[in-house]
Amino acid sequence: MDNPDFVMIKVMNEGKKILLSGVKPTGRPHIGNYFGAMKQFVDLQDNYNCFFMLADYHAITKEQNSAELRQDTLDLAIDYLAIGLDPGKVTLFKQSSVSAHTELTWIFNCLTTMPYLMRAHAFKDAEAKNHEVSVGLFDYPLLMSADILLYDVDVVPVGADQKQHIEIARDTAEKFNRVYGEAFKLPEPLIMPDVAVVPGLDGEKMSKSYKNTIPLFVNETELKQLVMSIKTDSKTPEEPKNPEECNVFALHKLVSGADFPELKKRYVEGGIGYKESKEILFKNLNAFLAPMRERREEIAKDTDKIRKILELGGEKAKQVADKKMNKVRELVGVN
Ligand code: TYM
Repeated sequence: MDNPDFVMIKVMNEGKKILLSGVKPTGRPHIGNYFGAMKQFVDLQDNYNCFFMLADYHAITKEQNSAELRQDTLDLAIDYLAIGLDPGKVTLFKQSSVSAHTELTWIFNCLTTMPYLMRAHAFKDAEAKNHEVSVGLFDYPLLMSADILLYDVDVVPVGADQKQHIEIARDTAEKFNRVYGEAFKLPEPLIMPDVAVVPGLDGEKMSKSYKNTIPLFVNETELKQLVMSIKTDSKTPEEPKNPEECNVFALHKLVSGADFPELKKRYVEGGIGYKESKEILFKNLNAFLAPMRERREEIAKDTDKIRKILELGGEKAKQVADKKMNKVRELVGVN
């Protein structure tokens, strides 16, 4: 019999388009993850039938430490709730709870050529840096394709760095449908142009691997230190500055709505120093992040409840994914 919680979510979401996205539980999420993708998750949760994943099998392409993975996964679940995702509306689940993701990846492996996957940016970057590339890292885009295609997803909200992965998911869906018969819907990326690439402290894309992040839930003291450490040039306060070339200004765009016109004017005309600009940014960023930080502290107190939410989400996702997987098995001839 269907769990009453599933039935409730199912009825509420009937007729809505389907949205899926995910975050890797590797260390702490940063404001690039938040503004680039996670904020959209919250903004869109009422309008779509949403699936949000904790991509733990993607996480182990990078780090292999079981205690850390377990902790990062629990922490990410708390983060999802603290930013405002409502488990009464959306399905929150661990990728590893639904074995169809890895099963479908194998089938995609057999359909995809190595030269095709060698064009993936993440693989090319790792190769260019002479990193040893695991088979898992090489295969990352196909696991992501399986994540998306199992759920008949319409839209995938992500930052710009994931665009190619959605294209690979579309190509893979088309290839499967051509070779074996119609099984998969083609998903669309949803990338917000203004936040497609949130810059880090050094002006490069904010990324855990570049060590230039502002963690989303950092405490106030550390937040101030990080903001004050943003890299700038050495112009004096009086000199006019091009706001589009300033790493501090790039972050003002995210949180300094009310101060924004005045800040822009003072940049262009001269009369604001980087120190003052950073102090204003800290004030606004802290005002934006503090309520989420406080909510997180409350939510983190009840880890049993969080585990239960993930368990239920896993069961719900599994019902949907297994149905698709049965069809796939039949089309492939392994049923
Ligand atoms: P991950 O954990 O690296 O990043 C999570 C989300 O944050 C976005 N992002 C950014 N957006 C703007 N500016 C930045 N500096 C920035 N840094 C990160 C990412 O684009 C992403 O949307 N492969 C995915 C996880 C995943 C997934 C999926 C996503 C696994 N399966 C299926 C969608 C659908 C990833 O690495 O996320």
